[in-house]
Amino acid sequence: MIRKCLFPAAGYGTRFLPATKAMPKEMLPVMAKPLIQYGVEEAVEAGMDTMAIITGRGKRAIEDHFDISYELEHQIKGTSKEYLLQEIRDLIGRCTFTYTRQIEMRGLGDAILKGRVLIGEEPFAVVLADDLCTNPEGAGILEQMRKIYEKYRCSIVAVQEVPEKQVHKYGIVAGKAIDERLTMVEMMVEKPSAEEAPSNLAIIGRYILTPDIFELIEKTEPGKGGEIQITDALMAQAQKGMVIAYRFEGRRFDCGSIDGFVEATNYFYHRNREE
Ligand code: UTP
Repeated sequence: MIRKCLFPAAGYGTRFLPATKAMPKEMLPVMAKPLIQYGVEEAVEAGMDTMAIITGRGKRAIEDHFDISYELEHQIKGTSKEYLLQEIRDLIGRCTFTYTRQIEMRGLGDAILKGRVLIGEEPFAVVLADDLCTNPEGAGILEQMRKIYEKYRCSIVAVQEVPEKQVHKYGIVAGKAIDERLTMVEMMVEKPSAEEAPSNLAIIGRYILTPDIFELIEKTEPGKGGEIQITDALMAQAQKGMVIAYRFEGRRFDCGSIDGFVEATNYFYHRNREE
């Protein structure tokens, strides 16, 4: 059983300045819902009940969002707007939220390692909330990944094909095909040039990790950009045992970029109108 989901949310979100000067990027709303709430809902759908959030300076709004606001509850009680709080109230009632801070932004690998005190020695999911994922046809991305984990019991990374000119923005994987959607990872490179890239399969912000990853991150030296890269630790894991890349069903919006954020907003706006 995977019960815990880690949300690394300590990054500065510089692509969204000045909006992210005093507000966490994870609180940017698509429609009226903050990005991180979509991520928590996806984790709950996959059966998880403990949300472990890695925060940093200026991220207090995340903690306040997943808490009761007594003043607001008092103001809104009995009015026609009360239903607007129902969804978040239900979510808070179903999960436990735990937090720790990453003091220095030393990279995603380091942020995940900081989560060790919240996770312990069990398999866990990781959601990068600025990657907004949805599958209108069926199960959410984490639920799809949980099922694959149940079968293979190893780390799983969600991947999608990207155009060649975008490979330099992602961790890129290559390996042996298990079936149409699954690849046994043999090679993983962080942000390669188009010439260096072993494929166009890009890792997106959904992972299921086995707890031995923590020791592998501890041994990982700073890589691309001087940051501790989760890709390097996963490559070590793939060499020692097994890591699977999964081409998920559904859509993913890169809401850490203005283009992806606007695309997601348009998509959810039209979907909500049709419903
Ligand atoms: P990004 O590469 O999107 O970085 O991090 P960022 O700082 O959030 O955004 P930009 O590029 O400056 O606009 C990917 C994810 O990893 C987390 C971020 O919060 C984001 O969810 N992260 C990254 C950390 O928690 N700590 C780090 O040291 C780095």
